[in-house]
Amino acid sequence: MKILILPDPAAAVARCVEIIAQTLNEKPQAVLGLATGGTMEPVYARLVERARAGEIALDRMTSFNLDEYVGLPPEHSQSYHSYMRDRLFGPLGLDPSRTHLPRGDAPDPAAEAARFDAAIAQAGGIDLQLLGIGGNGHIGFNEPSSSLASPTRVKTLTLATREANARFFGPEETVPRFAITMGIATILRSRHAVLLATGTKKATAVAAMAEGPLSARCPASALQLHPRATIVLDADAAADLELRQYYETVHPQGQEVALG
Ligand code: F6R
Repeated sequence: MKILILPDPAAAVARCVEIIAQTLNEKPQAVLGLATGGTMEPVYARLVERARAGEIALDRMTSFNLDEYVGLPPEHSQSYHSYMRDRLFGPLGLDPSRTHLPRGDAPDPAAEAARFDAAIAQAGGIDLQLLGIGGNGHIGFNEPSSSLASPTRVKTLTLATREANARFFGPEETVPRFAITMGIATILRSRHAVLLATGTKKATAVAAMAEGPLSARCPASALQLHPRATIVLDADAAADLELRQYYETVHPQGQEVALG
């Protein structure tokens, strides 16, 4: 795992965007795995800014999102389809046929999950998978106890996750109980996994992910098995890392250092 610690959330977001930009510069037709949630909002805002400034081009990429709530149609305001349309796909006018999310309103969610994994394989696999992390260590919606070999499937959300995400829903609305999520095996097949975490609320989960045992108790710990995982943190999210000083020596200010 490459652990990059930046001084504040803005610097962590900028570093994450830089990694995405580098991937797209090297391979404009890259397949990106995308995440939603509060952590990713500034990432998409910055990507839109940089694309509008002509510094980065997203129009040739293909994308697959990690997850979608079961029961929400794409046009529902809290669906992840809407999240992506509002923050990235719409502002950049991306071709909808290149952007993929599981259909939350599919009549057979299990079949939809299997179709989604097959579509990723058909596209040649994911070049760069963007990830956030839940306070309980989930990635995608792989909640604690998820098989570390899981394919894309339907998962029941924990109460903690539903409470954390209630902030995005109106007072009269309830957070769905189920989601279709890329599995841990799907995430591990990506050629590069980039996880961004900011804020003290993520510090415990980040330490368990990077320094705890490989365990379904903290699904993000599966990234210890990923051949190329980059973890981008701000100082608050890095606060509980025992080996922090070492990571900061290897990558001062979260930057690459030339060998020699
Ligand atoms: C979102 C997703 C989740 C979030 C995680 C953190 O597509 O898969 O794993 O990345 O719940 O969410 P925030 O960023 O809102 O704290």
